Amino acid sequence: MTVRIIHVGLGGWGGSWAREAIPAVSEVQVVGIVDPSADTLEAVRTDLGLPETAAFASLTDALTAVDADAVVITAPAVTHVPLALEALDAGKHVLVEKPFANTADEAAAAVHRAEERGLVLQVSQNYRFYPAPRVVRDLLAADTLGELSAINVDFRQWDNDRPFADHPHYRFPHAMFNDMAIHHIDLLRMVTGQEPVRVFAKATYPSFSKYQDEAVASMLIEMQDGLVVSYRGSWLSRAEHTAWAGEWSIQGEDGEIQFTSRAGEPGDVSGDLVTVRRAGDTSATPVELPTAEHHDRQGGLQAFARSVEGGPAPETSGRDNLRSLALMEAATRSAASGVPEDVVVPS
Ligand SMILES: NC(=O)c1ccc[n+]([C@@H]2O[C@H](COP(=O)([O-])OP(=O)(O)OC[C@H]3O[C@@H](n4cnc5c(N)ncnc54)[C@H](O)[C@@H]3O)[C@@H](O)[C@H]2O)c1
Repeated sequence: MTVRIIHVGLGGWGGSWAREAIPAVSEVQVVGIVDPSADTLEAVRTDLGLPETAAFASLTDALTAVDADAVVITAPAVTHVPLALEALDAGKHVLVEKPFANTADEAAAAVHRAEERGLVLQVSQNYRFYPAPRVVRDLLAADTLGELSAINVDFRQWDNDRPFADHPHYRFPHAMFNDMAIHHIDLLRMVTGQEPVRVFAKATYPSFSKYQDEAVASMLIEMQDGLVVSYRGSWLSRAEHTAWAGEWSIQGEDGEIQFTSRAGEPGDVSGDLVTVRRAGDTSATPVELPTAEHHDRQGGLQAFARSVEGGPAPETSGRDNLRSLALMEAATRSAASGVPEDVVVPS
């Protein structure tokens, strides 16, 4: 069976989903596309060779006009939960871009609705679908480092050259915590298999920043067993840029793992790198990384299609993602309050 999808939100990233990610996955077929911008909608419709009857200005119109199994939402974050609820109420499975929502409570409403209706609700945490973090997860699960003593994560990019009016990114709510660090937070939970319990966060606002909210932030994250993770993220860094998944150092009694991931274009795994330096070794040894049929968004989309068809529940389910959102939200609370904040996961 092919999962028939309505694709909602065809902007900068959504357009790339439409043209590159979705067509690569044979388990899905687009039966409708939605965007309120007529120009954006028409450009994608033409590129995909879809009939005019498959293009809609709203999800409501699309749900009325076409038969679909699922809705893929790549519109702005503020629309994610309202669109997901509408799709779930129409009996459709949902795959939604990160950040699932700007608050964990808002996201929980969609999780509850999906559970009541027995529908798949997955968040596209695409950084999980790269070889390096998956191998690191397996190495840590195999106790390669013994007891962990520290994890340090750095993310550095520069995105501040565009005119304010032309670049929606500057207006994303919490461009560092909610737009970017959510990826690293979600990876932290995946690779360690541990949950965060408390965070102290500090945001800085350089005068040259074009961002409406914070573009630079640091966090100290306390995990459930007492491990402390240090995180430094910046959209305004003139230092050497990191890959999108950041630079990681994971230190334990028996050695250190370093990794980086998602270095190039979306889906390019050639820049993924994992090294292990065991106690007493003078140099680090690279670890061979397996590849999968699909990576990045395509890997998540394939997992979603398989769940819809009765396969395993997605590892990045809406329910799982509440835990990533809860840390993201606690970080924004801490940056505002100036004190450490507990991670509060809604039920
Ligand atoms: N996972 C990643 O690596 C990654 C990368 C970039 C962006 N994103 C995420 O993708 C999402 C979209 O980001 P973007 O950069 O494409 O934003 P964008 O502002 O460029 O595009 C958003 C599009 O959604 C449309 N839209 C707005 N309201 C809508 C609605 N109610 N129904 C349908 N369409 C609507 C707009 O007309 C626009 O075309 C965000 O959640 C962002 O965080 C994820």
